[in-house]
Amino acid sequence: MTAIEETLVLVKPDGVARGLTGEILSRIEAKGYALVDIRLVQADRELLGKHYEEHVGKPFYEPLVNFMESGPVVAIRLAGNRVIEGFRSLAGTTDPTTAAPGTIRGDLGRDWGAAVQQNLVHGSDSPESASRELALWFK
Ligand code: TYD
Ligand code: MG
Repeated sequence: MTAIEETLVLVKPDGVARGLTGEILSRIEAKGYALVDIRLVQADRELLGKHYEEHVGKPFYEPLVNFMESGPVVAIRLAGNRVIEGFRSLAGTTDPTTAAPGTIRGDLGRDWGAAVQQNLVHGSDSPESASRELALWFK
């Protein structure tokens, strides 16, 4: 089944600060996805509140937003066949401790001293999330 989609990928502040943007982009490009647009963004709380609106009120929300505004992120508009599901598969599951080896979070997530929110990347989780999030980060 072919379905060309777009998704929002973020290299989170830990990925940028650790110099892993290139490694993450290499994996994305090696998979065959296309970079449609890319920008370095210092996100503010207003943008992050909209981006993470589904998580408002959860116990990890405040630490997550504090972390996400702690430094620049690389925002990527990514295109490809079934790229929404495909990028999440490349990224691995949310917790780097248990993310499978071979995935970005599983291979590069650093356990020692890192909190769960420091899991290197974000990827939209559905076509609806992708279009909503892309509109926020690429106006
Ligand atoms: P979520 O959308 O559930 O995960 P994913 O990024 O895999 O789509 O959560 C958003 C981010 O919030 C997640 O990347 C890391 C952080 N988070 C926590 O810090 N603790 C948690 O228990 C969960 C579920 C998420
Ligand atoms: Mg999510």
